[in-house]
Amino acid sequence: MAETKELSSKHILGIKNLKPEDLHLIFKTAKNFKEVINRPIKKVPSLRDVTIANLFFENSTRTRISFELAEKRLSADVVNFSAGSSSVKKGETLLDTVNNILSMKVDMVVMRHPAPGACAFLAQNIEANIINAGDGTHEHPTQALLDAYSMMEVIPQLKGKNVLICGDIKHSRVALSNIFCLTKLGANVKVCGPPTLIPKYISKLGVSVEYNMRKALEWADIANVLRIQLERQDIRYIPSLREYAQYYGIDKTLLNSLNKPVVIMHPGPINRGVEISSDVADSDQSIILQQVENGVAVRMAVLYLLAAKRK
Ligand code: CP
Repeated sequence: MAETKELSSKHILGIKNLKPEDLHLIFKTAKNFKEVINRPIKKVPSLRDVTIANLFFENSTRTRISFELAEKRLSADVVNFSAGSSSVKKGETLLDTVNNILSMKVDMVVMRHPAPGACAFLAQNIEANIINAGDGTHEHPTQALLDAYSMMEVIPQLKGKNVLICGDIKHSRVALSNIFCLTKLGANVKVCGPPTLIPKYISKLGVSVEYNMRKALEWADIANVLRIQLERQDIRYIPSLREYAQYYGIDKTLLNSLNKPVVIMHPGPINRGVEISSDVADSDQSIILQQVENGVAVRMAVLYLLAAKRK
């Protein structure tokens, strides 16, 4: 594959419209930044002339803190916006809100929004670089990038490896971005969950489907476990969380009964005792906290590469 020195897009709206060369450039840059953030002085001056607004119209712990730390480690000026305490509550539109913030000389926007396509809409209407920090059930591109980066720290060559994504696929932007990312990297991707939580179109994305969790785990080298997103379910897709845990929950007894080790991942937040037990989440097989650590380096890479597109 031809190496590239710059991203093909001025925005990160989703993994779907990134090229494999973009992914490799982000991973290579993130590796350098991971070295930086493990130094005693974790800061570089790369973005000292850049102002970034973090606009969160939906709750977040990991993504929000990770972006803010990434921006500060790059010496950017940072402003944070929460919809709940803003004039959105008085009826101001998304575009008016963002245009007002941009008129204060903001260069880049990181946005999480409950509406799928909200970041693409902004990108069509404003000049600043947009980074999608999760748009409804659509995409969460930086999560997929940090997931793939974390997988490659354990299994450097993902091409031909078996990656399972399990749980609530239907409502998960993490699942969709992971599918786009992993298939571009040449991994074999399978999804597993209750039939009601697997979209009917999923096989068109180049992934296979398994409804039995034991069989799925026996196939997998890596399992990325997702939570049930009750907050996005307009109707009940499962009879109860207790039954979900019984049929699709991953615990140590199940993992120990497999014929091989499986690397366990979770984007968070975890529902302990539902999709994953504590003895799995906190075990040596789990790389959940490594994912969170890598999130800062991967987001530094994305911000740095997008800022270079401004020059
Ligand atoms: N993984 C993730 O997006 O977590 P937050 O919702 O806490 O940002």
